[in-house]
Amino acid sequence: MTAEIWDNVADEVNFNLKIDRERFFALIERQAEVLDFGCGYGRISNELAACGYTSVTGIDPSSAMIERGRKMFPGLSLMHHSTKAELPFADGSFDAVVACAVLTGIPSSGERTQAVAEIARVLKPGGFFHIAEFCSEAGRVFKSGLGIPMRYSSADEWRDLFKTFHCCHEEVVGTTTMSGKPESSYRAFYKNQLTRQRAQQAHDCSVMPSGGKNATPSFSSAVNRSGFGVGAYFADTRLPAMLAEDLPQAEAVLVIKGERKLYLLRDGERYRAYPIALGGDPSGHKQQEGDQRTPEGDYVLDWRNPSSAFHLSLHVSYPNEDDRARAEARGVSPGGMIMVHGQRNGLGWLGSLLQRWDWTDGCIAVTNVAMEEIWRAVPNGTPIRIEP
Ligand SMILES: C[S@@+](CC[C@H](N)C(=O)[O-])C[C@H]1O[C@@H](n2cnc3c(N)ncnc32)[C@H](O)[C@@H]1O
Repeated sequence: MTAEIWDNVADEVNFNLKIDRERFFALIERQAEVLDFGCGYGRISNELAACGYTSVTGIDPSSAMIERGRKMFPGLSLMHHSTKAELPFADGSFDAVVACAVLTGIPSSGERTQAVAEIARVLKPGGFFHIAEFCSEAGRVFKSGLGIPMRYSSADEWRDLFKTFHCCHEEVVGTTTMSGKPESSYRAFYKNQLTRQRAQQAHDCSVMPSGGKNATPSFSSAVNRSGFGVGAYFADTRLPAMLAEDLPQAEAVLVIKGERKLYLLRDGERYRAYPIALGGDPSGHKQQEGDQRTPEGDYVLDWRNPSSAFHLSLHVSYPNEDDRARAEARGVSPGGMIMVHGQRNGLGWLGSLLQRWDWTDGCIAVTNVAMEEIWRAVPNGTPIRIEP
């Protein structure tokens, strides 16, 4: 029934809800296997492909949407499927799933839950689910101007729907409908939780050469392919976790760039210090995307990523309003995704050596053992001050 309604409007709609591109690009590698769930005519698939994603599959129950998408974007992989059947993919097929404005158009709680369960099934353990949906604190069920049943959920309702996942980041941002009416959008990144059986599979896979079918060989995967690889994997991930000490919880983090040090603070005292590496142009406050600088000032460590391309990472809340305004006045992007993180995956065993250079793009890098300690001692919401 729903598919027929979407079929009827397939040639007259132009969807406009935005995904969180910046965070998506930072969290999900370009070679990742990505599923665009409820792809419509392939707008988001096309956006991702245009930004370098090499393996994006779009799927939608409306055959007219898929037909339009195949004409508009002949290079994309767009598939039709019936909502009555399971998704035509094996368990754990995708590194990431994106759903933009899809669940809003499924008012039934049962159908929503079924759709989310299918997403969890086809997503790898530890894979990311990026959601961008319309949101209304009071909750609203209505028919759109085109006669499509809609349900705008509150942030709490959305959260509840994704409760089997682990939330890595969420926000409510302003948006507009296709007719220009101001509304809110709930955007979030959820991580697929590991079941015990799947965790074992994930572990078994992680000591094998990494990468999907389109992955290019990297130094770290070459290391993993050698007999040395298992030892390097152990030194990279397991050993730091074993060597790290459990410290008292930090009340604040202080980074002094000139000293190349990160301190944990409690009762106003520095109780732990770690050497750090910075970006290629370490002096001065970050001004714009790509300048290789680390911001200076007061921020918050607001969310974390347990499986980034670097060993564990904590996000610094740059850019703030002032940073954005300054960049806007100069007509540039302020950049973002500044993290405190460990070593690049696969290179952790070289950590102490690599820490002698400023090798990041503006992030604050520590050894993997240090990162394990910081990860455990610093909860989300901890203030961080970065001084010159
Ligand atoms: C508002 S459109 C969004 C399309 C696309 N994600 C975008 O943002 O451009 C919603 C799409 O969800 C699809 N859809 C509806 N029910 C669905 C379901 N149960 N599973 C997957 N997709 C569904 C519709 O066919 C429609 O193409």
